[in-house]
Parts: sequence; structure tokens; C-alpha cells
Amino acid sequence: MSTPPALQFLLPALDALRAESLLRTPATPLPGPERSFCSNDYLGVVHGQDHADAPFGAAASRMVRGNWDAHAALEHALAQWVRRERALAFTSGYAANVGSLAALLGPEDLVVSDALNHASLIDGMRLSRAKVQVVPHLDLAATRHALGSPARRKWVVTESYFGMDADSPDLAELRRACDAHGAALYVDEAHAVGVLGPEGRGLCAAAAGNDAADIVVGTLGKALGAQGAFVAGCNALYDFLWNRARSHVFSTGLSPRVASAATRVLGTLGSGERRHDVLARAQQLREGMMAMGLGHIVPLVVGSAAKALEAQARLSERGFHVPAIRPPTVPPNTARLRFTASAAHTSADIEALLSALHEVRTCFAS
Ligand SMILES: Cc1ncc(COP(=O)(O)O)c(C=O)c1O
Repeated sequence: MSTPPALQFLLPALDALRAESLLRTPATPLPGPERSFCSNDYLGVVHGQDHADAPFGAAASRMVRGNWDAHAALEHALAQWVRRERALAFTSGYAANVGSLAALLGPEDLVVSDALNHASLIDGMRLSRAKVQVVPHLDLAATRHALGSPARRKWVVTESYFGMDADSPDLAELRRACDAHGAALYVDEAHAVGVLGPEGRGLCAAAAGNDAADIVVGTLGKALGAQGAFVAGCNALYDFLWNRARSHVFSTGLSPRVASAATRVLGTLGSGERRHDVLARAQQLREGMMAMGLGHIVPLVVGSAAKALEAQARLSERGFHVPAIRPPTVPPNTARLRFTASAAHTSADIEALLSALHEVRTCFAS
């Protein structure tokens, strides 16, 4: 994958930085504290740790002194896993989206945004001051129409698997719409990576020969059980974000210990056993609730926030913790319980939950 047409603008931006001697590239980690005069590890705590694995603290932003071997190993593993040239690790999915969107988009740009996009995507778009055109959830025709407006650059920002609704856009069609308008496609796979798509590599990997998205975001804090996130794509994207994503430049790097743990989890995904288990439990849960489809998140929309809280309380009395999701996380009058199956559940756990749901079903009746 070379620089996609919609991201070609990154190349002259990088050339301009290079010409001014302002281009930063990842530095080789320094050997120890005695030779470093730029770390924020003021008390020398990081260097006092047993580094058999990796230190807990990065000690500085990665650009300054906080770039560790563990980051490089994680990014290499992530890029290979999602089959992209590079992946840049961030401290959280929120930081990844806010930093990347604010860096990539500008006030002369148009960005078409799904109505149910996550707050971190919304905040990143707002911060960029691009013209944001919100389209109804998963509405392809509205997306195509919105892309017709003139702008310096055009973007489509969406999620591949919506964490509150358990549904997905048609990524291949979105790709086609973007190509027709020279737009870049930015896809947040927070709830998909690790579980959905070929070998759990996400839904972009399943669509349009792995090239559905120009930019793929994944979190390490959900299916991968660690913390942090990554933004994957072409080399130019990595270099640009390294220099321009402010949540990367001006923030202490991801904990190297966490990066190392996430790399280990990635290495265990190959067998697919846990993925198989979580999808099997979700299917059991979904079928038990007489819903359709297959995913590992099962939303049950109950309507008012009060009803959702009542349902939460009644399930809690029966020993099940299922938090009520209320506005502004979801639109008004679509408060819900959000069930997430896990490979750690047994079939008996699901049966017990289903029978508790049966007992409290009056909460869900409209
Ligand atoms: C789609 C999406 N993107 C990003 C995030 C934020 O990820 P993190 O919790 O790593 O900040 C979330 C969290 O729920 C999410 O659902």
C-alpha cells in the first residue's frame, strides 16, 4: 500500500517540514538516565525499575525521550496485523481520534460524519474546524449527497462496528463513494479489532481487499485488554501524525509496559479460540433475546433513561451488572442496556442472564 490518492497532500506537507529542518522521526531509545538530559523522569523512577520487560512510564513524549523499544515492537506487530505500512500507537482511542483528526483536517475541508460517531471522533472533527456534515446513521445516499459539496479536501469519518448499536456501514460502498469524490475514508474499528473480520483484524480487512479505509483506528483497551490505541495507514500518514498529532507530540508516550503487554496479546490472537468463544456466546445471547444477526455486542433499546435505570437495578438485584446507557452517550429516548458477551462467560452464565431477563421483562415492554 503506497500513499492513497486522498492522502497525497501529506507528501508535500512532509517535504515542507523537511526543507525547514523541522521533520521529526522516531529517535532510537537512549541507553540510560545518565546520558539523557531531556526526560521528565525527574526522580529517576523509570530507570530504577527492573527493565526485564519494559518500564511502566515512558518518561516523556515519544518525540523527546519517551520512545522505547516496546513502542517500536508494538507498532511493528500492529502494522503487520492490520496489513498496513505503519501503525502509530497513542495513549488512548480518545487521544488517537482527537489528535489525528485535528491534525489531518483543516477549516477548508468537508467531513461527512455518521450521526452516531463516538465522542472522540466528534471532538477531533470539531477541533479541526472543518465543515462537518452529519448524515443519518449508516445512510449511504446521504453520504454521497453530502460529498457533492465543494471543498479543499473531503473526508468520510465512521466506525466499522458501532459499539452502542452493534451495526456496521457498508465499507465497500463507502469506499466507492469516497473514490467518486476524491475523499479519504477514516474508519474507527474500536469495537471490531480483535474480534471481527478475518483473524480478528477488523472489518476494513474484510471489505474491498483490505483497502477499504485510508486510515484505520483501533483501540488496545477493548478486545486486546490493555490500554491505548493505534492509527494505521501509509508511511506518510505515520510521519505526518508523528509530527503533527498534538496528542502524540505534547503528551507522555504510552506506557512501555502496557505496549509490551499489548504486543503479547496480539501474538496470542492467532489461534482464534477466544474469538470463536465470544462470537458463540454472543450468538447464544442474541438468539435467547430473539434478536437477529451476529456480533459480540447486544444492545437492548428500552427508551427512557428512567426505564433503563430500572432495568439495570432489577438485573443488579439478580447479580448481573449491565449498565444503563443513557443520553448523551446515545440519542434521546434510546436509552438501552448494552450486553457484551465475553470469551470468559460460560454457556451457563448466558442461560442465567437470559432467565433473569425473562423475570424483569416488564421493564422492556413499551
Ligand atoms: C468508537 C470508539 N472510538 C474510540 C473510543 C475511545 O477509546 P479509549 O477508551 O481507548 O479512549 C471508544 C471508546 O468507547 C469508541 O467506542
